[in-house]
Amino acid sequence: MNAGAQAPVICVDGPSGSGKGTVCRLLMQALGWHLLDSGALYRLVALAAARAEVALDDEPTLARLAADLDVQFDATAAGAEKIMLEGEDVTREVRQEHTGEAASRVAALPLVREALLARQRDFQRLPGLVADGRDMGTVVFPEAPLKIFLTASAEERASRRHKQLKEMGFDASLAGLAEEIRVRDERDAGRAVSPLVPAEDAVCVDTTGIPVDGVMARIRELVQARGLD
Ligand code: DC
Repeated sequence: MNAGAQAPVICVDGPSGSGKGTVCRLLMQALGWHLLDSGALYRLVALAAARAEVALDDEPTLARLAADLDVQFDATAAGAEKIMLEGEDVTREVRQEHTGEAASRVAALPLVREALLARQRDFQRLPGLVADGRDMGTVVFPEAPLKIFLTASAEERASRRHKQLKEMGFDASLAGLAEEIRVRDERDAGRAVSPLVPAEDAVCVDTTGIPVDGVMARIRELVQARGLD
């Protein structure tokens, strides 16, 4: 058990485009806690696999890549995220849609998930951790005092993702993206290990049509009710 294992964890799980990334970053800043972007770890395994020309169904080799992943999560001077893989800045590549698609494939492999488990738990440090993913509340931090499951309609999730990608300068068609998200969510929810499902004790928050401020107000209420702020 690491020294920070007593630190509280707030789990935020949900499908692509449900607002997890935005909510987790705002919550982390508001509380002054650490952040685990577990999706980025799966995306990095997919990127490392592409670089090493490892097939996305070569489970033992992918699990080794996941176990040995040399990554660093930093911030630029302006506070933007910066993700390094083997010393190289891969921030933009990590966020591309094809990386997300490959990540969803490697994330369905039990040995890869197992290889990333300890690495994810190492992020648990004082004063606390905000954990963003699909199985934070069900598998990685089952003892967490607050588990939130964010959802939003499929249309809204696709249009948020579209906006995000455009802001990053990537070209994407809304219809194509909606279909990609549907396939990815189906795979994430239907896989045999750690599928995307709310934990039994998760609070579901539907963000459809609710501006970020409104979602954050609801989440701050939940945080306060648990005595976590
Ligand atoms: O949240 P994201 O889009 O960055 O996640 C990329 C993929 O990784 C997503 O399709 C599902 C997978 N994933 C997962 O299986 N478990 C997690 N805890 C986080 C992400």
